[in-house]
Amino acid sequence: MRVPFADLRRETAAVRDELDAAAARVLDRGWYVLGAEGEEFEAEFAAWLGARHCAGVANGTDAIELAVRALGIGPGAEVVTQANTCVPTVAGIERTGARVVLCDVEPDAGTIDLTSAQAAMSERTKAIVAVHLYGQMGDVAPLVGLGVPVIEDCAQAHGARHDDHPAGTIGVLGAFSFYPTKNLGALGDAGAVVTNEPALDEQVRLLRQYGQATRYEHVAEGVNSRLDELQAAFLRVKLAALDADNDRRREIAAVYDEALGTSARLTPLAALPGRVHARHLYVARAADRAAVQEELDARGIQTLVHYPRAIHQHPPYADRARVPLSNAEALAASVLSLPLHPRMTDDEVGHVAQSLRQVQ
Ligand SMILES: Cc1ncc(COP(=O)(O)O)c(C=O)c1O
Repeated sequence: MRVPFADLRRETAAVRDELDAAAARVLDRGWYVLGAEGEEFEAEFAAWLGARHCAGVANGTDAIELAVRALGIGPGAEVVTQANTCVPTVAGIERTGARVVLCDVEPDAGTIDLTSAQAAMSERTKAIVAVHLYGQMGDVAPLVGLGVPVIEDCAQAHGARHDDHPAGTIGVLGAFSFYPTKNLGALGDAGAVVTNEPALDEQVRLLRQYGQATRYEHVAEGVNSRLDELQAAFLRVKLAALDADNDRRREIAAVYDEALGTSARLTPLAALPGRVHARHLYVARAADRAAVQEELDARGIQTLVHYPRAIHQHPPYADRARVPLSNAEALAASVLSLPLHPRMTDDEVGHVAQSLRQVQ
């Protein structure tokens, strides 16, 4: 049996009729950018999340950029974020003109480390971006106590919670990606910024469309980062299934947890107390990662590495380190992601679990 890491055709097939109807609705209306579907999606996503405002944007990288810019942060400022994220977190921050300073993460969970974040701060630090990597929330509340605004990068955490607070609602702004492989995925690029602050929502809405307040009245230096109507209509279909999809993800993760219970070679990343994990990815650590990956591949199981390098280990970002980043480096050298998506069959899940027992 071959178990692919993901299979977007199955995701689409599961709701194909609804997607076709959504596309037809948009084509019949003949309005393609920032319209009724986008407004409905923004309202539905905000309600689902429990946030007051949601502004649709073109992708998750833009969502981070616009969240940072909405706070008035730009050239001359520093923004602290964790070293074990994917590059778009850093690219989004730095497109504002601000410079990233990296901090370390918790060794067993990969979530942002409070002490390290504090050590990375200087008088130029104007914000912290916490990344809820793999679908588990970092501890945002104590970061808020450090005295600068906290933005949550929720690209991998649709549906994650910490003590009943949904990802994206503890910091002052939350940035979401709806890239097709995300827990809530469009059929192309899409993203959103959520906030409970009306003034910040207003600012994001200005910035996403050339700083335009009313037609041809420009009051800020904005960009073009709009959510298109087709993606918004598709996202409305997918949103209706998100809670059930996330439940299925957690069900599969529990099977893997059980299979790895006594493994000497693969240790799942720690589940932190008080969290509901969105299980975007199922990530375990292995000292001999390449060998484990090869053995799983021989059993037909596709695995990936998220991510093989910490940010400062990419040449363009080599000088963004100010504090030791040893936990992020150790994770980059050992993490392995197993196949996990809501349309996996029970047979596939069983085959992965059985294989995990065999590679012990
Ligand atoms: C943690 C994280 N931040 C930001 C992004 C950027 O999102 P997008 O690809 O929609 O620009 C992604 C996804 O690629 C991500 O996983």
